[in-house]
Amino acid sequence: MTQDTDSQYGFGTQAIHAGAPIDPHTGAVIEPISLSTTFGQSKPSVPLGVYEYSRSANPNRDNFEIAVATLEKAKYALALGSGSAATALIVQSLPVDSHIVSGADVYGGTHRYFTKVANTHGVTTTFVPDLAQDVKGAIKANTRLVWLETPSNPTLTVTDIARVAEILKEHESTTGIKIPLVVDNTFLSPYVSNPLVHGADVVVHSVTKYINGHSDVVMGVIATNSDSLHERFRFLQNALGSVPSPFDAWLAHRGLKTLHLRARQASTSAQQIAEYLNQHSKVSRVNYPGLKAHRNHEVVVRQHRDALGGGMISFRIKGGAQAASDFTSNTKLFTLAESLGGIESLIEVPAIMTHGGIPQAEREANGVYDDLIRISVGIEDTEDLINDIEQALALA
Ligand SMILES: Cc1ncc(COP(=O)(O)O)c(C=O)c1O
Repeated sequence: MTQDTDSQYGFGTQAIHAGAPIDPHTGAVIEPISLSTTFGQSKPSVPLGVYEYSRSANPNRDNFEIAVATLEKAKYALALGSGSAATALIVQSLPVDSHIVSGADVYGGTHRYFTKVANTHGVTTTFVPDLAQDVKGAIKANTRLVWLETPSNPTLTVTDIARVAEILKEHESTTGIKIPLVVDNTFLSPYVSNPLVHGADVVVHSVTKYINGHSDVVMGVIATNSDSLHERFRFLQNALGSVPSPFDAWLAHRGLKTLHLRARQASTSAQQIAEYLNQHSKVSRVNYPGLKAHRNHEVVVRQHRDALGGGMISFRIKGGAQAASDFTSNTKLFTLAESLGGIESLIEVPAIMTHGGIPQAEREANGVYDDLIRISVGIEDTEDLINDIEQALALA
């Protein structure tokens, strides 16, 4: 679906109003959930309205897609059954024997898809530590996609999207081959960053995280300004059929309407928590884009709204895997669980949880040690969160 509202409005106004028409039949301010799988026709192949069959399009999915396209400053957005389905669809759109260049420090499921699924369909991937530096050398004659996650999961490395886009433009002007740049914007949400504005061709989200924001929907979305990529993705959305239910689209749209409030609060608390951790004697390293000492902070200032660091922090605790286990088992407000981006704070140990499937040597080369702890800061009171961390660190 295409974007809607007037760009004169701020993010919050667009989040509330984009894709949110008043129901023309009842006047309902909040859209009804349209559960019908099929829609009537007046003559064969002449639908009564704009819909035919719910896998192809559904009013709730359309409205959600309009809202995401608007907030990502994209012409189009397409919703999928999960973030992983979005990744799969994009890889599926590549010709056989294609090659992908990906950042090394990506979500474990993305790494798994590239190395254990895409390769069985003849698509190979080269992982590089720093795309802005290494992408040029990694491009091959059959490279058809560059995959960038920023900030990366779980070490929160920030990559300069505009720099990578510029290198790919130079490649296009010398070879005539356009290599689309895909950015996984799950960790920041469209409130904190809009990768298309910085030169990306496609943005993907695990909607499961910040966009829905309430840890009760698994869903994904793809946004782009490219007519040709959208046409291809739209065809595959229907052909592969990995679409979200109308109820999930409705819930995620409801969650999206408060994204600006949630994302700002999570970032504000995360900044204070990161500063607290940074001076704590039991912490050996803090990865947080909002810290001035962060390696890529000058990119953060250019790429993130108000230089916000987002709601995700990772840090190394002194005392190894045992201390990581003790600490994460003793927090009271931070629930020990995978996932992120919800209203409630979560904590996890990537080496044995989200990133457990990545071989140890590869994992450690990317900074994912046994003592690394990842936290997703929710929207509880900041002081309560810091107190919770303080008491659990005392027990570790
Ligand atoms: C950065 C990132 N991308 C993609 C995904 C996959 O999304 P989903 O779990 O909705 O399939 C995740 C899931 O944790 C993620 O963290």
